[in-house]
Amino acid sequence: MNQRKPIGVGIIGCGKISQAYFIGIRLFQGIRIVACADLNAVAAEAKAAENGCQALGVDALLDHPDIDIVLNLTIPAAHAEVSRRILEAGMHVYSEKPLTVDLEDARAVLEKAAARGLRVGCAPDTFFGAGIQTCREWVDSGELGRITSGTAFLLSAGPESWHPNPGFYYLKGGGPVFDMAPYYLTALVYLLGPIQSVSAVTTKAHTERTATSEARMGEKLPVEVNTHASATLVFESGAVITAVFSFDVLAADHSPIQLYGTEGSIKIPDPNTFGGPVATCLRGDREWTEHPLTRPYSENTRGIGLADMAAALRQDRPHRASGTLAAHVLEVMHAFDRSSESGRRVAIQSCSEQPAALPYDPEADLNGA
Ligand SMILES: NC(=O)c1ccc[n+]([C@@H]2O[C@H](COP(=O)([O-])OP(=O)(O)OC[C@H]3O[C@@H](n4cnc5c(N)ncnc54)[C@H](O)[C@@H]3O)[C@@H](O)[C@H]2O)c1
Repeated sequence: MNQRKPIGVGIIGCGKISQAYFIGIRLFQGIRIVACADLNAVAAEAKAAENGCQALGVDALLDHPDIDIVLNLTIPAAHAEVSRRILEAGMHVYSEKPLTVDLEDARAVLEKAAARGLRVGCAPDTFFGAGIQTCREWVDSGELGRITSGTAFLLSAGPESWHPNPGFYYLKGGGPVFDMAPYYLTALVYLLGPIQSVSAVTTKAHTERTATSEARMGEKLPVEVNTHASATLVFESGAVITAVFSFDVLAADHSPIQLYGTEGSIKIPDPNTFGGPVATCLRGDREWTEHPLTRPYSENTRGIGLADMAAALRQDRPHRASGTLAAHVLEVMHAFDRSSESGRRVAIQSCSEQPAALPYDPEADLNGA
């Protein structure tokens, strides 16, 4: 691969999240958006005009000689099929989360990529941000001792009060686990390594909900999925994390993630953001101390995982936001309902390497000389 020319990126799916990628990718000199496509040609044309790239049909984008990686920003139900087509076109794929809805589809995507010598990357990439990178430095430093336990909480009232089209959040592939747990579980695997087993109880407070957002005021929303999951996650390291993901909580004030080590505790910032705050309370301390973030990328930098995948291709090294990591997280998410239905602890079959920490000065590395 040419060392100087930026790696060409195509985007399929020009919806709500796409602009964050159009903006984020501009930060990295090693990648360049060539074209975008959408089933809705008007959406693709609007994004192309706004961001100065070509608008194409999906077939034409997959046939473009200057595109090496395709960013799949379609809806979750379309991820498997669109990623399959990208790989069959001989291009690397980087997908929004979840990698796919069904586990079998995730395995098929990874197998197809491996057979063709192509890469699969997947969001979230918030763990590249200043907040979680600073936490990784604390965990790796040993100052907290051995992490033995912790908590992860996403407690919300659901999206129907603000989202213009909230119905899909309560259908298959939605719910607090599939929509929000990828941020928490990916951050935890990044900090602690892979998950070995899951015990959970999942339930729902309502079988029907009512939209109160302006666009859908009063509309009834059938609830197909569970909307409250309470789980115990056992990590290969031995750490035991108590996790609750819920759309059934009107008010709560737990911090998003806390980890407890034999020598101290750390508060991890919201893993759906790139920034802080980070605070620790070590043995002998009387109160929490907030720390300045020691690393770059504290603002919304969606696309940084894709920049790392492009740099990894040039440098012939593993990329961090990998399909293997995303498939591991997906298996864990499926295990919540499986454990609840069976009344048993579910062993996780897949394993994911703990992604390497970013180099201390990652900017040169990610910009891929
Ligand atoms: N919206 C957010 O704040 C947000 C945040 C983080 C992650 N995400 C993730 O990003 C992805 C997209 O979310 P969104 O909110 O942008 O959705 P969206 O519905 O706004 O946009 C999705 C776009 O994909 C297009 N599309 C669907 N199927 C397609 C296909 N087969 N081929 C080509 N185009 C197709 C649709 O026409 C639409 O324009 C989802 O996986 C979601 O979980 C969204």
